[in-house]
Amino acid sequence: MTRTFLTRLLAVSSLISAVAIVGWVHQSPDEAGRVALKSNHPTTSPDDEILLGRSLVLNHDCAGCHGGVSPASKQWLAGMTRPDQEFLIGPCALKLDAKPCWRTRPRNLTPDNATGLGRFTERQIFNALRYGLRPEDTPDVDITSGTPGVGNFPQHPHYLAPPMPWPGWRYMSDRELQAIAAYLKRAVKPVSNKVPESEGPPDFWASAYTVDLIGPYPPPAFPAANERVP
Ligand code: HEC
Repeated sequence: MTRTFLTRLLAVSSLISAVAIVGWVHQSPDEAGRVALKSNHPTTSPDDEILLGRSLVLNHDCAGCHGGVSPASKQWLAGMTRPDQEFLIGPCALKLDAKPCWRTRPRNLTPDNATGLGRFTERQIFNALRYGLRPEDTPDVDITSGTPGVGNFPQHPHYLAPPMPWPGWRYMSDRELQAIAAYLKRAVKPVSNKVPESEGPPDFWASAYTVDLIGPYPPPAFPAANERVP
């Protein structure tokens, strides 16, 4: 486990202990219309889209959690294969027997139909990265809002468990997230590897993903309070 992951885990653990149940605030589209999924992006050829997706997967270190060290490795993105690849979330991340404690497990991102992303559409994968919604619990629809019950956002969202870093990934553009989904679904070889379900609290992490804790989407316009025009 790298230091970055440890730092993230500590951050996640304090985030989880600072439980605050607040609703998502309404988020309107930014100038680039990034709240809504744009279904067609004719700006790139299919090959360019796949290569963009590949490069984003590499430079966002998806494999650091989801398995494999390079696209040439056998377990490339095939999900955890050893118990030491699972994460402890909650106070137990700092002290082993402290409670509550949840074990979460990086899933198989290869397009295997039975155990990987083969079961889901590219739009469901897009929605997982933009909104943190568990693909298996979220209908395959365009989502245009982050507010439960509005714009196809589920009334009772089932969020992906920490430390899946979707609160950061969601700031990628529609085109980038679509390219990642295309690469994972169409250009990675399927690997059969059944990852056990992550454990989670009854609210499926909703209390951890309030706008107060993860920041707004879309982000505030530049320059925001702590930025300056160079
Ligand atoms: C710090 C570790 C970490 C990193 C880095 C990471 N993930 Fe994840 N990811 C997870 C965990 C843990 C889960 C399981 C969450 C759950 O079970 O609710 C997950 C779940 C997912 C899922 C849902 C799959 C399913 O079958 O439900 C997708 C899609 C996904 N990750 C894509 C990505 C992509 C793409 C990247 C890189 C851009 C990435 N992840 C980087 C930890 C990580």
